[in-house]
Order: sequence, then C-alpha cells, then structure tokens
Amino acid sequence: MSGSLAIRPLRREEIPAAVALWRRAGISLTLSDRPEELARLLDHNPRTCLGGYEDGRLVATALGTFDGRRANLWHLAVDPDRQGRGLGRAMMEALEAVWRDMGVVKVTMFTVEMSNADVEGFYHRLGYRTRNDIFAMSKILREDDGPPGTKGDPLARPPDGARDPLDRPPDGEDAP
Ligand SMILES: CC(C)(COP(=O)(O)OP(=O)(O)OC[C@H]1O[C@@H](n2cnc3c(N)ncnc32)[C@H](O)[C@@H]1OP(=O)(O)O)[C@@H](O)C(=O)NCCC(=O)NCCS
Repeated sequence: MSGSLAIRPLRREEIPAAVALWRRAGISLTLSDRPEELARLLDHNPRTCLGGYEDGRLVATALGTFDGRRANLWHLAVDPDRQGRGLGRAMMEALEAVWRDMGVVKVTMFTVEMSNADVEGFYHRLGYRTRNDIFAMSKILREDDGPPGTKGDPLARPPDGARDPLDRPPDGEDAP
C-alpha cells in the first residue's frame, strides 16, 4: 500500500534528487535530462510534473505534460526498494486526476522503450492499451544533441561505453 505517500509538484531544486532516483530505477537519461532542460519542463508543466515523497524523501516521479491537445508522460519511476507496493499506480492516478481537471481528453505515451517491454503489463493494469498501428519518429533539432539514434535522441538508449550524456565534458572538449 502507499498510505504514507505524499504527492505534489516536483520543485526545481529537487532535480538532482530526481536524476539520482532515475539512475537507480534504470530510466534512460539523455541530453534532454540536463538540469536546464528539466527545469524548463517543470516551468512549462507546473501542475503535472509530480514527485512522490515518503517521510520527506523523493521516492517516485511522474513527469506529465499537456500540450493543449494531448497529454504525455515521461520518467515514471519508483525507487527500486519501494516498487511493487502501489506507488506507481498512486502516482499515475494522481497525475490523471490533474490531467482530468485540466480538461485532458486523451493520454498518448511515446516513451516506453522496447527494451523495457516488461512494463507494458503495468500500464495495462492501469487501463492503457498498446498501439500496434503507429510507430515513433524523432529528429534532433540542435546540433549539439548528436545524430539521430544516438545519445541525444530521447527515444534511444545511449550505446554501451558511451560517455554519460549528463556528465560535463572534459576541459577542451565541446559541450555535448
Ligand atoms: C513501472 C513502475 C513505475 C511501476 O511502479 P510500482 O510501484 O512498482 O507498481 P505498482 O505496485 O503501483 O503496480 C500497480 C499495478 O500494476 C501491476 N504491475 C506492476 N508491474 C507490473 C508488470 N511489470 N507487469 C504486470 N503488472 C504489473 C501490479 O501488480 C499492480 O496491480 P494492481 O494494482 O492491479 O494490483 C516501477 O516498477 C518502476 O519505477 N520501474 C522502473 C522504471 C520504469 O521502467 N519506468 C517506466 C518507464 S516507461
């Protein structure tokens, strides 16, 4: 059960704690997860980027967005030692309540990686259905984000051995 879980909007100053949580939970991080990108996401979506807290500790996140037409979800994560206790469901139910209040008609998720197919069952339990009639496309719009399909691509996992895209480059190298 998640009786002691408090859910509220994630704050800018909690971004480092959120990144640490995502690393523990195995969430793929890309250049779009640099602090300035995440701060902008929170600024644009102040009601729907949620943190879940137990005893004041960040143990879950669900970064919802709403573009005026469709809602989308990024980085749903529960700390590994808290998984399987209803926290993921609680985060999604809280987010859906906010989305409903904002008038959202439909949630479309583009973010489930094929390498994380096990999570499909979780979403099915919450009423989401898998779409086999559509596929995802992406295009990098900033040169510093690297070519499509590599570390800058939010739909791709960084290749093994690649430098962590969130790390600062060594002196003398171009910024990622
Ligand atoms: C996916 C994740 C958020 C689920 O959170 P959780 O707290 O472990 O899940 P819950 O305990 O709330 O489970 C909710 C329901 O889904 C079911 N469920 C959970 N994981 C499941 C799975 N892999 N397959 C089938 N059902 C699953 C539970 O049995 C439960 O069912 P019920 O409420 O009807 O009894 C969590 O496992 C996680 O952080 N995983 C790593 C990061 C990740 O993959 N995020 C998703 C990116 S798309």
